[in-house]
Formats: sequence, structure tokens, C-alpha cells
Amino acid sequence: MWTVLKLLPLLAIYSAQRGEAAEGKETQRAGHVSVVIVGGTGDLAKKYLWQGFFQLYTTQVDGGHTFSFYGGGLSPEEQATPVLFEVLKNVSCSADTPALRCALLKDQFLHLAQYRQLKTPEDYGALGRHIQERLQGEGVEEAGRLFYLSVPAFAYADIADKVNNGCRPAGGAWLRVVLEKPFGHDLRSAQTLATQLGGSLKEEEMYRIDHYLGKQVVSNILQFRKINQKSLDPIWNKRHIERVEIILKETLDVKGRIPFYDQYGVIRDVMQNHLTEIMTLLTMTVPKNLSNSQEALRNKLQIFSLLQPVGMRRAVIGQYQAYNGEVREELNKTSEQFSITPTFAAVLMHIDTAQYDGVPILLSSGKMLDERVAYARVLFKSDIFCVQNPHNIHCKPKQIVFHFGHGSLQHSAVLVSKNLFKPALIGSEWREVTEHVDATMLGLPISDYYVQAPKVEREAYAELIGQILSGRKDCFISAENLLASWGLWTPLLHSLSGSFPRIYPGGEDNGNLLDFRLRGTEISYASDAVVIIHPEHMGGSAASAESFQVVQGKFRSDNMVSAWGQELIAKLATDLQTVAEAAVSEGGAFHLALSGGSSPVALFQRLVEHHFTFPWRKTHLWMVDERCMPLREPESNFHNLHEQLLQHIKIPYYNIHPMPVLLNQRLCVEEDGGALLYEKEIAHLVNGSRFHFVLLGVGLDGHTASLFPGEKAHERHGDSLVALTESPVKPHQRMSLTLKTINNAQRVGLLVIGKMKHELLTQLSRVKNNPDKWPVTGVHPANGKLVWYLDYDALLG
Ligand code: BG6
Repeated sequence: MWTVLKLLPLLAIYSAQRGEAAEGKETQRAGHVSVVIVGGTGDLAKKYLWQGFFQLYTTQVDGGHTFSFYGGGLSPEEQATPVLFEVLKNVSCSADTPALRCALLKDQFLHLAQYRQLKTPEDYGALGRHIQERLQGEGVEEAGRLFYLSVPAFAYADIADKVNNGCRPAGGAWLRVVLEKPFGHDLRSAQTLATQLGGSLKEEEMYRIDHYLGKQVVSNILQFRKINQKSLDPIWNKRHIERVEIILKETLDVKGRIPFYDQYGVIRDVMQNHLTEIMTLLTMTVPKNLSNSQEALRNKLQIFSLLQPVGMRRAVIGQYQAYNGEVREELNKTSEQFSITPTFAAVLMHIDTAQYDGVPILLSSGKMLDERVAYARVLFKSDIFCVQNPHNIHCKPKQIVFHFGHGSLQHSAVLVSKNLFKPALIGSEWREVTEHVDATMLGLPISDYYVQAPKVEREAYAELIGQILSGRKDCFISAENLLASWGLWTPLLHSLSGSFPRIYPGGEDNGNLLDFRLRGTEISYASDAVVIIHPEHMGGSAASAESFQVVQGKFRSDNMVSAWGQELIAKLATDLQTVAEAAVSEGGAFHLALSGGSSPVALFQRLVEHHFTFPWRKTHLWMVDERCMPLREPESNFHNLHEQLLQHIKIPYYNIHPMPVLLNQRLCVEEDGGALLYEKEIAHLVNGSRFHFVLLGVGLDGHTASLFPGEKAHERHGDSLVALTESPVKPHQRMSLTLKTINNAQRVGLLVIGKMKHELLTQLSRVKNNPDKWPVTGVHPANGKLVWYLDYDALLG
């Protein structure tokens, strides 16, 4: 099998036949490289890796390194060897390779390859010894050992350890271990993985691959920016850039990959890595010296430090309708178990610098969309109003498009609107494109752009495999880069973890369901109604939005209103306005106590956007509860109220009553008497301390306001109207209206939305009143009315 040296004469003969003056070539130091693909018969290896290594081999065969290739896996050799060779037989030569040479190269490649079972430390030890003996036997100098870990990430640390103990090369030869994403699933797990791997491998030995960095257009973004710096510098800023978009649209579903995908979802699968990398390449300062990888990394990290934190209002998520069926099938789940993993997302970023301040940077990707396309576009502002002849070039959008492939233009390319500037060619391997005259790019005919494309399209993996051999670490993801990226995405991922994605049918049928709107630093779906009804809920018959009206009924023997999310919110907003107007006409003021959490957000939005006649000037806003933290903190309920409601309405400052959680520069200290202070304020301003309306939500553990299970709240709080309480989750300390105050209200609305709450509602519909276990069951306005506002997702699941 291992016949590196024996094969060389054959090649020499072939080269001589081609008339190449082999002896005239500069001879490279012919060190030997052992390539081991762990997971060598897996999907990625079959699809890309062996082809990439074959290509590498063909470029080196006439005087570079010599090679041996090992496909490693858990299966025994007899079983996996034929599988491996079936894959290897399918590698292909580049189009310009003559058939005879191609056949010869493939034959040699097969001879250089073998399968090894790599399961135990002994297996790795045996491989290490095997490589060593062969090197000695053949008398070849070793250049290095390349381990490509094409296995699930949970196996990395263990394999790295075995490689370290059993396969480390001696002498000056290098060890390079290539790791495929996912590198963790949030900041903490990425840190843990980095620490574990750090125990076996040095940072310079780890090659974390992001195949987007191997795409020719992506790997040349900085080069493009550099050589066109004169034209770009004056316009690459907030005064000229309208927005930046980084988009990866796919038409396929994730069938067959669910065990991986369901744990990760679209944000972790492609946004935290591919799209983020592109974003940094587009926005970072172009290094003075492009080959200085330290400078490039520094500039990249700087962008991470300047990105504004990403909270859930900067994202929309969706899931294609058939997804849960696929989950059930591949993960053997029952129909009660529901996955909320997003398969579509759009996220809005902003960079806090004088250069980019206010420029929206949009990242979006999804499965089962209408087309397969990947691009980044920098759209520039236009200050020209065309009175006539809108087809004139100066009336058209000005943009630069980095097209990574797929889409109507069959190849990757960089396109610059002709009304911007004529770009310099990226390099000698690039050409101006003049064909494809009928194609369009983002709505414009291709003739509106200067287009350049690589002369030869190369596969990203093959490109990166070449870079591994050259030791080009800058084409890979460094540990700092990785952690910075997780640092950016983790808060969003955590805050979205319970959010229900908008369900979309897939493909053309998505219509405008996934269209979203950018407003300041927020993003939201553009259309209100989300009505995708699962046929099983409808007994198989198709249903329309109209077939579900707002229904009234009873829940736990109290009044209940139920509808689809948007209609429910509309009804609650109308009820609220009716109560407000009645209170104002009766006593001149409306006292409303509001809860925190995500449920009321849609209500606030509705009030802001539709209720222009709401009597805000006569309304007093009180807090149902507050977290013990400064009010400006993003997690404070008051902060959210401010962001969602207060800043959009005209309400007198003195009508706003935040809870005094910060007194004497300390948070919620009993002796400071904050709760008592609030109580007095209520007693002073609210007639009989009887709110006109108290809006509550309910947590998954049955808590309401900040009254948590097991607190024996009704006993402990006695006659207090306001109390300090303890939450089981952080931040622990809270201030809350007591059950006494809540039950003294004229009207209490209990708003419960989202599928996540379905289980809880089912339980609540059965349990008896037990405020200690289920605090929400203690809500019974003595001389008032309780109404449950439940959306269909929560009610019907
Ligand atoms: C991979 C993701 O990293 O990138 C896939 O895991 C995705 O879900 C793919 O389809 C997209 O890459 P490309 O090169 O096909 O655009």
C-alpha cells in the first residue's frame, strides 16, 4: 500500500511524456505528510474532503510533498475499507487534466490510502507507530501530520487527547488538527471546549475551519477593499451607506441532519460563523499589510468589541412548517413534544463608531426559502431624485455585491454598480465578466454592474485544505475570534431560547410571511397575522384566519378571552382603553399597573401603533413588580416599559411610578423601606389603593407578579400592599405588589401567550387554588373581575 517512493518514477515517466522539463523545476523540500481523516467515511468526507485532498495531492505530485492518506473511523477495517474505496474511486481531476494522467493520479491516490479503525488510545498509538516505522522503512523525512476531525464536536477533546498521546510526530515535524464547526453552542461551552483542547494541542496546531473563508469571493473581500481603497474610503461610512446585508437563502430542508440541527438551529449553524465572518471582513479596518495575520486579527476583534449588544428585539425567527414532523421522525419524539428550533432568522446589528453609527447591518438565513443564494451587499444612499427617465444609470440603486455563489449568476463574483466607480481587478486570477447579459442581480440587469469573477472556480474545502498544508493559520478561526463571536451571539441565543418561531410553509408559498421591517435598532415581522394552521388541528380540513374568531368562555371558572395572538392583543388593548375611558370620565384618572416580561410587549406595541386616542395624559402607570437592579439595566422591567411604551407616548412624567428599588445607593434593602414608600405612594394617589386595571402574566412555574412558589406569600405579606420577594432565578431579589393589592383591583387581566405555556395552562385548568404552589391561583379580585387573555397557541398548544 505505502508506496510513495515506488510511485515517483512512474510520475517522472509521465512528466517526461508530457515533455515537461521536470529537472528544470524548483525542487521543494519533499517532506512526507500523513493525512488522517477521522470520520473518513462520513458525509462531509464523502462530499468534499477526499476530493479536496485528492486535489491537493495532484498539485504536489510533481515535486512537492509526498503523502499517505488514512481514513479513520469507529468501524472495523473489514467493514469500512470497501466503503472508503468506493468514495475514493469517485474523486475527479480538474477539467484540464488529460484522461491518461487523471487515471494515473487516481490510481496512485488509491494506493496511498488505507482505512484504519480509530477507536481506542491503542488504535491511535498503533497508527503513530505505523507512520513512524514506514517513514524509517522508506527513509523519508517527515514534514508533518494532518488530522482532520470530521466527527461530532463532542468527540473532539477525546480524539485530540488520543492524537496527542499516540500520534504526535517527533523531531521538527508539525502536527495540525483540523476542527469542523460547531465549536461549542454558546460562549461557555466554547470556552470549555477551548480549555479541553488546550490540554492536548497548542493553539498553532488547531485549524478551526469555516468553509465560507475558503470561498474565493469571501477570501478576497479585504483584497478588494484594499486595492479599491481610494474609491471606497470616501463612501465606506454612515454618510453614504444605507445598509449592509449578509444573506444566505436555502431551498432545502434539514431532513437527515435533525439530530445535529435541532440542537443548533439556524443562528448557530450559519450566522454565528459564516455570516459573522463576512460581516467582520466588510466592516473591519483594512490591515495596512494584508499578509500580517496579527494585524488582521486585531482589526477583526476590534469590530466585535464595537458591536452593540444583540437582544431579542433585534431578531425575528421562523421555522418551516414540516420541521416538527421531521423532528418526530428522526428523533422518535411524540406529537406532544414540540421543537422551537428556528430554521429562519434575521438579525440586526449596529456598530458603535463614528464611521458606522446608525448603519443597519442585517444578517439573515433560512432553510426552505424560495431560492438558493448567498451574498453580501453594501447598499449606498442615493440623494438624486429622478424626475424623468428613471432608467438612467444615475437613478438606479448604488451597491456593491459580493456574490458567493448559487443564485441566477452561476458563479461567484464581485459586482459594483456602474454609477459608483470602476473597480480594479482583485488580482491576476480574476477576470472581468462580460457574458451572462441576460442575468439580473438583486433586481438590476447585470449590465448595470462592473462584474469580476475568479478565472477558475475553486471549491472552498479544496482551497482551505491547500491552506492547511501551507500553514496559513490566518485562513482559519482563531480561539480569540471564536470566543468573541460567541460573546456576541450568546445573549441573543439565551434570550430567544423560549421564543416561539413564526411558522412558514416553505418555498414560494412563504409569500410575504417572512418579510420584516427595520425600525431604528429593532426588527419585526412586517405582517401582523401569523395564521398557519396545522391540518391535524383542523381535522384535516383547510382553515383560514377568518375561521377563528375571538372566543369568550371560562377558564378556572373566571372569564376567558381567546384568539390568535394578534387578535387577542387587539382585544386586550381595546378592553384596556374602554376601562381607561370609563375611569377617566368617572374620577379624572386611570390607574394601571403593568407587569414585566415578554408577554405584554405586543400589547404595548399595539397601544402605541393603534390607540392614538388612549387617555395617556390622565393615566398613571404603576409597576406590578420590579427586579432589584438599577432601572436603566436592560433586564429591569421599568427599562423595558420605557423602551416599549413610555418613549413612544405622551404621558406626563409625574404620572409614571417606577418602583423605588434603589435607595441610599443600595438595592432593595429592607431597612431602606422602598416597599413601604411605594405602598404610601399608591395609598396617596390611588383611591382606596384600588387599581382600575392590573395586568399580570404567569411564569412557567406558576408565579405571577414577583410572587413565587413556596414563598408562602399570603402569610408573609400580611396586610402589606408591596413587598420584597425572592425569585428562584437570577436576579433573585424583587419588589412586587402583593396578592392583597392585586385582589383589591377593579379588574385584573392575566395575559398568557405562546405554545410554551400550553403545558402550564393544562395543569392550571386542573389544579385547585393553592397559592403557595401556584401563586397565580391566588388571584381572585374580591370586588372586581378577573379575565384570562389566552392565545390559541397557549390554549390549544
Ligand atoms: C454549513 C451549514 O456550514 O453551510 C449548512 O451547516 C449550510 O446548513 C451550509 O447549508 C451552506 O454552505 P454553502 O457553501 O452551501 O453555501
